[in-house]
Amino acid sequence: MGWLKGQVALVTGGGSGIGRAVVKRFLDEGAEGVGVFVRNPDHVAQLTEEHGDKVVVHAGDVRSPADNDAIVTKTVARWGKLDTLVGNAGVWDFMTGIEKLSIEQVAESFVEVFGVNVLAYALAARAAAAHLRKSRGSMIFTLSNSAFHAGGGGPLYVASKHAGLGLIRQLAYDFAPDVRVNGVAPGATMTPLRGPVSLGKNERRLSDIKGFEENIAASTPLKFVAQPHEHTGHYVLLASKENSRATTAHVIHSDGGWDIRPLR
Ligand SMILES: NC(=O)c1ccc[n+]([C@@H]2O[C@H](COP(=O)([O-])OP(=O)(O)OC[C@H]3O[C@@H](n4cnc5c(N)ncnc54)[C@H](O)[C@@H]3O)[C@@H](O)[C@H]2O)c1
Repeated sequence: MGWLKGQVALVTGGGSGIGRAVVKRFLDEGAEGVGVFVRNPDHVAQLTEEHGDKVVVHAGDVRSPADNDAIVTKTVARWGKLDTLVGNAGVWDFMTGIEKLSIEQVAESFVEVFGVNVLAYALAARAAAAHLRKSRGSMIFTLSNSAFHAGGGGPLYVASKHAGLGLIRQLAYDFAPDVRVNGVAPGATMTPLRGPVSLGKNERRLSDIKGFEENIAASTPLKFVAQPHEHTGHYVLLASKENSRATTAHVIHSDGGWDIRPLR
C-alpha cells in the first residue's frame, strides 16, 4: 500500500457511500490529507472522529460557487497544495419516467439533477484548477453506467451522467498537458444515494428499495451489487502520478459488466 504517498486530495460527496470509501482508501494509500465536501453537518464530526487531522471537512452545497472555493481554500491552507480532485456528489432520479412528472416538475428536476451532477463538477474543476495545474495533478469524476447506457435511471439522471462524460472529455482536452482528467463509472452500488427534493425523493435512499440487491444482481453479468469500497482501487490508480501518467480522458467501468448484459 502507498500509491498516493504524500498526495493531497479533495473529495466531494465524501460524507457517505462511494465518496466516503474513497476518502478512507486514499488515506490508507498514504495520502497526506483529504479535504472533504459534505452536505450533512453530522458528517463533519463523523469524518473528523474517524480520520482526525488527516481530513478537513466543509459542509455546504456543491452547487454553490462559494462553497467550492471554500473547501479548496481550506484544503490548500492546511497542506499547501492539491494533487487530486474527486468530483463525486450526486443525486439519482429513482428511474422516474418523464410522463410521471408534471411539466413544471421536469423543469425543476432538470435544474436540480443537472445542478448537482453536472454544474457542481464544473464548479469544483474551476475552484481547483490553478492548484491542480501547479501540482500537475488530476481530476477524477464519478460517472455511472448511466453515462453510457439507458436503463439505469430516468431520462434526467441518464442525461446528466452522459453530460458528465462530455465534461470529462473537454476538461481533459483543455487541461492537457498539465492536468489529467478521468472518470470512474460505477454500476449499482449499495449506498444511501438519494433523490431530488424537486421530486419529493430526497429522503428516499437507493439502498432502501425493496429487492434492489437481488434484482440488480440477477441482471448483472458478474451477479453482484457492489459495496462502495469495491470501486476505490480505480480512483487510486487514476490518481497515481506514477501508474497513470499516460491516462487522460478515460473512464474506468466498475459496473459488473453492463456492456455485456444479456438482453431481457
Ligand atoms: N449507488 C449507485 O448505485 C451508483 C451507481 C452509479 C453511479 N453512482 C454515483 O456515485 C456517486 C456517489 O453516490 P453514492 O452512490 O455513493 O451515494 P451517496 O448518497 O452515499 O453519495 C452522494 C453524496 O453526495 C452528497 N450530495 C448530494 N447532493 C449534494 C449537494 N447539493 N451538496 C453537497 N453534497 C451533496 C450527498 O450528501 C452524499 O453524501 C454519485 O455521483 C452517483 O451518481 C452511484
